[in-house]
Amino acid sequence: MSSLDPAFERFLCGLPKAELHIHIEGSLEPELIFALAERNGVALDYPSVEALRQAYAFTNLQSFLDIYYAGASVLLKAADFHDMAYAYFQRAQADNVRHAELFFDPQTHTDRGVPFAAVMEGLKSAQAKAQAELGVSSELIMCFLRHLDEDAAFATLEQAKPYLDDIIGVGLDSSEVGNPPEKFARVFSAARELGLRAVAHAGEEGPPSYIHGALDALSAERIDHGVQSLADPALVERLVREQIPLTVCPFSNIKLCVFERLQGHNLGQLLEAGLVATINSDDPAYFGGYMNQNFVDTFAALGLGRDAARTLAENSFKASFISAERKAGYLQEVAEYCA
Ligand code: HPA
Ligand code: ZN
Repeated sequence: MSSLDPAFERFLCGLPKAELHIHIEGSLEPELIFALAERNGVALDYPSVEALRQAYAFTNLQSFLDIYYAGASVLLKAADFHDMAYAYFQRAQADNVRHAELFFDPQTHTDRGVPFAAVMEGLKSAQAKAQAELGVSSELIMCFLRHLDEDAAFATLEQAKPYLDDIIGVGLDSSEVGNPPEKFARVFSAARELGLRAVAHAGEEGPPSYIHGALDALSAERIDHGVQSLADPALVERLVREQIPLTVCPFSNIKLCVFERLQGHNLGQLLEAGLVATINSDDPAYFGGYMNQNFVDTFAALGLGRDAARTLAENSFKASFISAERKAGYLQEVAEYCA
């Protein structure tokens, strides 16, 4: 892979940015998985950190999800969720992430008997500490697991009701193909009636019709991934017209074999088409890097320059769920940084 000019690499790393596509369970590093397994007396199928890391060779989304859900089995107490999230926030701050919107998967935990309250208390205390001590702001987006049924999603929404002030929106993740957005139209509608925002994974492995479905059936305000959109010119035109952001995750797409090589990733084409694309890490502990590593390697592989860097940083704030006033402040900061 070509390498970047060191001054340009520093410029990319120092850019103020927001991260909008990070599954907090996907930030669980193997070392922390082992530490929490020990703390909680949970048996793991792998003898060592190295053996677990060795297993991170994925062929598609499902092959990753199987290991990702196994990794999450060490999370039992509020303190576990706190430690996981705070470790992420420290890495985010090091990458000049000013604001992060975190996905979390309550069903992965409540289905193992972990109380919804434990998940929320741990994440909330980490968020408060990150704001106070690191200056990183954040929001929570509760994802429904799309391989489970609508009733299970409704039960999860019910459990979230005491926490509506702490959750900004709902999302849709897990196994995409065979689980189209329409399956969750009613629960998303109920969530929106409660004042929650809506996003959805679509067009990661699934067809462009799933992106149309996320917009039409779920009223998704952002599309997570969306890299399959280029196969449908009418969809691209719609996404541009409606300025629907795409939260693109380059390392994820390579590790899950959506693209063979980073040099073949379509991020440059998405930007060229006028789409509001952003760069994100998705599941950084599993995919080989956090925000800045995604930026640096993707810029090197695709030969992107300063204009793309500024656009991506601006898009990350524009696409976020912060107030118009805060957006204006961050856009000013990006403009000054790039001047
Ligand atoms: N896609 C779908 N579901 C997920 C992902 C992803 O990349 N990461 C964690 N859950
Ligand atoms: Zn994702």
